Amino acid sequence: MNPFRESALISKYDVPAPRYTSYPTALQFKPVNDPKPLADEVAGWDGPLSLYFHLPFCESLCWFCACSSIITGDHAKADPYIDALEREMGLYLPLLKPGRKVEQMHLGGGSPDFFSPAQLERLLGVVRARFDFATDAELSAELEPRILTAEHLDILRAGGFTRASIGVQDADPAVQKAVHRIQPPELNRKAMAMMRERGFASVNVDLMYGLPLQTQASFARTIDHVIELSPERVAVFNYAHVPWMKPAQKNLLLAGPLPTGPEKIALFALAAEKLVAAGYEHIGLDHFAKPTDELALAHRDGTMQRNFQGYSTRAGLEMLGFGVTAISQSPKSYRQNFHALDAYYAAVNAGHLPVERGVFLTEEDVLRRKVIMAVMCACVLDYAEISRATGVDFEAHFAAELAGMDDLEKDGLLVRRPGKLEITPMGRLLVRSIAVRFDQYFKPTEKRHSKAV
Ligand SMILES: C[S@@+](CC[C@H](N)C(=O)[O-])C[C@H]1O[C@@H](n2cnc3c(N)ncnc32)[C@H](O)[C@@H]1O
Ligand code: SF4
Repeated sequence: MNPFRESALISKYDVPAPRYTSYPTALQFKPVNDPKPLADEVAGWDGPLSLYFHLPFCESLCWFCACSSIITGDHAKADPYIDALEREMGLYLPLLKPGRKVEQMHLGGGSPDFFSPAQLERLLGVVRARFDFATDAELSAELEPRILTAEHLDILRAGGFTRASIGVQDADPAVQKAVHRIQPPELNRKAMAMMRERGFASVNVDLMYGLPLQTQASFARTIDHVIELSPERVAVFNYAHVPWMKPAQKNLLLAGPLPTGPEKIALFALAAEKLVAAGYEHIGLDHFAKPTDELALAHRDGTMQRNFQGYSTRAGLEMLGFGVTAISQSPKSYRQNFHALDAYYAAVNAGHLPVERGVFLTEEDVLRRKVIMAVMCACVLDYAEISRATGVDFEAHFAAELAGMDDLEKDGLLVRRPGKLEITPMGRLLVRSIAVRFDQYFKPTEKRHSKAV
């Protein structure tokens, strides 16, 4: 069975479902009036840390964008933002047990390269002065190729960054015009060459399908362009159309209708087939990696993890998120910062953790999170292993869920064997449809999630 061409099956499972970058998902986060109990929880843990900095600014709005971005031409706005990040870090530091090492740091956005090289250098200096980094810490940044310069990369590389992700989305000039993002292929080649010259060892390229004017022929050229760029990883995102939250997305319709469900599925199938033919492995959902990439290795040996940045190789890290909308994850809680810049500034200036929403996990949540993340990342669920790790008899606890998977097995998404559940290549593509069976909160009528493919 070629999973990418099973369009009837894909359509059957192409229903809204969470992407499970957390469990419970952000829909379960509740408004927080007093962040103190959540802060107290941070103080209870030791072990390595992962830091996430949300740098929201962009120079120009891509009409499809569903990210948490702030559009401005005023680069001076980054300075007070760094001041606020510095204050926010200062609020966390007294809470953290001494000796905790940072093993991972990610700059996300928006576009972190909206910051000038000098502003980036200042930010990295501020972070390094406050946190102790492991010598092999994994540092990565999301970069906007149209504003990226060699000087940005020099600063990042000097700061220990070896990983980067660039947005390409689509290489076709007509599609680019329709989405308000003109980005000639030559610019991507230049960005890639600059990163390679500086020794960035793992580069990811983001693509998107479901945009106006995308055709099989045009998207095939985009994929060929990406294969020529030869990144270690490729993410082929399903365009999430949420105009009630992001009104600028309505502009996409000026160029004509969006691809329909079956057309979208065919676009993804085309991308997947071409990437696999070029030697990439489908590691799950919408992600592809070269077999030699750490993530593909982690996928094969069952150590791959999932967090707010997608897939990751590092396990068991407590994540501290800084900046507007940033999400933090502790072993038993999630916290999300204010969405509005003013509210974020007001909180940190008043000396409060800028937490807008959050949730404490119950024991049941912790257990289900472990199972759901295993489904999202591994090809096999080993019942004895999960029972050992959690102290809960997996087969007894999830007897109803396991018994209710006849449809998934019949459709070839998984195979139930004694003591284990194997996820097939078809299941890897539709993995959210399996994970959702272990989600206590999911309501099939909930329309706020994007579709499964
Ligand atoms: C923060 S941006 C990447 C860095 C940089 N700002 C850029 O665009 O090059 C994160 C990625 O989210 C994806 N994205 C944005 N809006 C999306 C949407 N509506 N649906 C699916 N993916 C989306 C894009 O592929 C984009 O590259
Ligand atoms: S550059 Fe990236 S974050 Fe900024 S608007 Fe475009 S897609 Fe969104």
